[in-house]
Amino acid sequence: MYLFPLSRVSPEARSTPVWPGIRPIVLLAVFLASGCGSSGGDGPSGDTGSTDSGNRLPDLPNPPISPPPSADDEPAAEASHFNTVTNFQVVRDTGPRIPEKEAPKVTLEEYNAGPLEPEIVVPPGLDTTQNRPPFFEGLTDQETLAGQTLSVLFKPVDPDGGIPGMYPEQLPKGAEFVDNMDGSKTLVWMPLQRDVGIQEFTAVAIDPEHSGYRTHHTIRIKIDMPDDPSTIPNVAPELEEFLPHTARVNDPVVLALRGIDLNGPVPTLELPNPPANASFVRHPRYDDYFILRFVPESTGNLSIEVVVRDAVNSSLTSTDSVSLEVLSASDFSRQGSRLRDLAGQRNLRIGYASLQEFFHRPDGSIYADIAAAEFNMVTAENAFKVDLINPEPGRYQFADADNLMTFASLNNMSVRGHPLVWHRQLPDWVLELPEAKRQGAMQEHIVRLMARYPQIQDWDVVNEAIGEDGGLRDTLWLQAMGESYIETAFRQARAVAPDATLLLNDYDIEVDGAKADTLFELLDRQLALGTPIDAIGFQMHLWSNFDEFGEVRRNFQKVADLGLDIHVTELDVALTEDGGTEAQQAAVYRQILAICLEQPRCTTFQMWGFTDQYSWRENWLPLILDKRYQTKPAYHELQQGLAQ
Ligand code: XIL
Repeated sequence: MYLFPLSRVSPEARSTPVWPGIRPIVLLAVFLASGCGSSGGDGPSGDTGSTDSGNRLPDLPNPPISPPPSADDEPAAEASHFNTVTNFQVVRDTGPRIPEKEAPKVTLEEYNAGPLEPEIVVPPGLDTTQNRPPFFEGLTDQETLAGQTLSVLFKPVDPDGGIPGMYPEQLPKGAEFVDNMDGSKTLVWMPLQRDVGIQEFTAVAIDPEHSGYRTHHTIRIKIDMPDDPSTIPNVAPELEEFLPHTARVNDPVVLALRGIDLNGPVPTLELPNPPANASFVRHPRYDDYFILRFVPESTGNLSIEVVVRDAVNSSLTSTDSVSLEVLSASDFSRQGSRLRDLAGQRNLRIGYASLQEFFHRPDGSIYADIAAAEFNMVTAENAFKVDLINPEPGRYQFADADNLMTFASLNNMSVRGHPLVWHRQLPDWVLELPEAKRQGAMQEHIVRLMARYPQIQDWDVVNEAIGEDGGLRDTLWLQAMGESYIETAFRQARAVAPDATLLLNDYDIEVDGAKADTLFELLDRQLALGTPIDAIGFQMHLWSNFDEFGEVRRNFQKVADLGLDIHVTELDVALTEDGGTEAQQAAVYRQILAICLEQPRCTTFQMWGFTDQYSWRENWLPLILDKRYQTKPAYHELQQGLAQ
């Protein structure tokens, strides 16, 4: 099913040693020990090949550190009116919803210790004796009761003259930051039952001369319940903000709409004028969401009215609307050949990172069609990360990853598994593991995930192991195991998938500097130990003024000289805020592609998404299609670069 060559370099050409002595029987033992087999994983942890002398892979923990996946974790078929997919069966997770992480609460003790000192951010090179920081005049902590309206004046002052700018870091729900038109603003907020406790609010003052010179001032607001709770008014529920989206005529659209009631149970949503043949149902797992699905039959701007009704007082409502721009199929046609066809002719894999649950988005079918047409490889942007896939010990949510695998196989795309070992997007239970258990948990995770997806040929085994200023990054894995965690992770991965390409993936390693130095020192040590690293993943989250192409070329060559493959794994090129242009952005894409094409060991060119509608750097529009899925200069540069 996976039609694309693993690598443009034949496996024989790889100089990295392949994990010795792996036989199918050993693999089966790993599989069963991981709990992925039918034995359920309660038995002994099995033989992972550790009897070989010189085997440097520790046994899997016995008993397991955390329970393996069980039948309860298997996703179930999802009814079609919840998604935009028409050509395969979408599955969904069935367990209870995982509660959202709450921000740590400020304690009464901390509050009583007195107000916080403002934090001043000084840009490099600024002389603070010549230019003093802006501050907020007379700002102090506040006390109030739920149901009472609080007004707090924020008046930024600059000792050197001029009026500082300002902005709130995050407004509490239901609050406003009212502009007094005299350089000051007022926080106007009626806290409600759910706000009782001590809340923080931060405003930032910006120096009139140097916009990078800023004072972050956090105040605390202590909110108590009034003696008579019935004095708190029942505020009308509202529709959660719904950003405009693009849709395509005759293609299904799903809108996930959510009512928010700041002081009551989940409100009900009603559509006074629903589109023709629409279904509108409560989400089976997320009871505050309603899912509208319909197929727009004509082009144009569509506005759908939504009534939000209070669950306690049914006469209390608010009315809002959501809007969609419905375009025709031809509005999405792109000139020339598709990127995957051009890349395929050059034996290059070209890919993207897939948005989580794209099939639950309004524009899911446009997204899917373009992805399938343009790319022969995909990475899950988030679906394989531990916080999503294994949020609690013994609890697994595989649906998002399973759906992506189905989508990829249907469209002859290969998949990169990303990431197995990383220090970010970890659930609390992993963060709280004592050091002695981390190695076992890491190995278990690698085995369980890789065993579930044996089709995956490329794995980012260790992600972002190098620190910002060089040296190994000080992570929970390093703290528990020292550098050996890297070796153990790769050996464990090799034990499960002898033929997969195993990667060390990182950012800022393509340019000269402390990170690249650390990379090559680390590789020298690890390759000497026989650690089965096959390729280096260069993330390449760049800016439009990037110009260190010579360094990229040299660093790629140094990796090639070590006998390793090169994958560009997460390329995106953000527009700089000082007027970076799409033409500059396109040139950076083109150059990186050219460097990859001229380097025989660069097998893979992947971007971290493809539409500015969905990008982790969306403020800087870093991708090759715009928010309405129209091609940008970068798209055409890639076409031309591939065709040359
Ligand atoms: C990012 C995703 O794009 C975001 O949606 C998520 O909130 C954070 O992670 N390096 C990586 C990726 O290896 O996994 C990161 O992805 C981007 C940086």
